[in-house]
Amino acid sequence: MIEIHDIAALKAWSAERHKANKTIAFVPTMGNLHSGHMSLIDHAQTLADEVVCSIFVNPTQFGENEDLDAYPKTLSDDIDKLKAHGCHVLFIPSAHDMYPQPDLTRVTVHHMSTLHCGATRPGHFNGVTTVVLKLVNALQPHFAIFGLKDFQQYTILKTMLSDLFVPTQIVGVETGRAEDGLAHSSRNGYLTALERETAPCLYATLCTARQHLEAGIKPVYEIVREAKEFLMENGLTPDYFSICRQIDLEPATEQDTELVILAAAYLGRARLIDNLHFHLNR
Ligand code: PAJ
Repeated sequence: MIEIHDIAALKAWSAERHKANKTIAFVPTMGNLHSGHMSLIDHAQTLADEVVCSIFVNPTQFGENEDLDAYPKTLSDDIDKLKAHGCHVLFIPSAHDMYPQPDLTRVTVHHMSTLHCGATRPGHFNGVTTVVLKLVNALQPHFAIFGLKDFQQYTILKTMLSDLFVPTQIVGVETGRAEDGLAHSSRNGYLTALERETAPCLYATLCTARQHLEAGIKPVYEIVREAKEFLMENGLTPDYFSICRQIDLEPATEQDTELVILAAAYLGRARLIDNLHFHLNR
């Protein structure tokens, strides 16, 4: 695996690969890689000749009181995992290289970026869209691969790439979970042993809400109320629990069939997010 540390070298590598008619699949990450991330790398292998992973803890997507400084850094383990999964290139830029003029340019997908996680984390998605567009413009990959665990992030990035006519094709990969249903996440490391036992409750609540929607008996507001109550009974503090349509993440209407239930909840030091997306037979 080649390690690249600056934008100029990344551009040069990409130009050479394009000239050789090779296809490139790109997996952007913030490191502390777990099996969810590795499933993205594995999927990338099936799509293109070259797999590029980036590790960059992007400061512009963290709020002032968030965990930027505490974000787990495990670079040498990450490198071992990427090598074991046959990743070809690891891009590890510095903050200065990514943001030579820190506050000058931001990319915003209006409105959608202010919903759900965006309501609790103002500016977060502007940081995500900005860094992803910069990385994609530097690398010019044929494919960019993202986890559907961060469904809102995926939807915002898909909208941004399409709206700005970026030729890179976005690909979503299903959420990797532990056997008890908890979605793999770097932030699960913040959980105590006891909290880790309770955490799968978030996924269980999503599954129950889906069953109620499919049964079609309870009104949506009742399903949401019960879900939040169940989370609180189990020691989680719900941030939001929203039944939406996939296309724009607005509240689902009675006509919508492509649905996503988005949820976030606090548990100890961790903020857990998860979702279920599915087709509802009306
Ligand atoms: P990070 O949280 O490191 O996640 C990197 C990628 O891994 C994202 O596309 C995320 O959705 C995916 N991922 C995380 N957990 C997953 C799981 N359990 N199953 C499947 N995929 C999973 O998301 C980011 O970094 C950043 O916002 C980034 C896009 C890199 C921009 O800075």
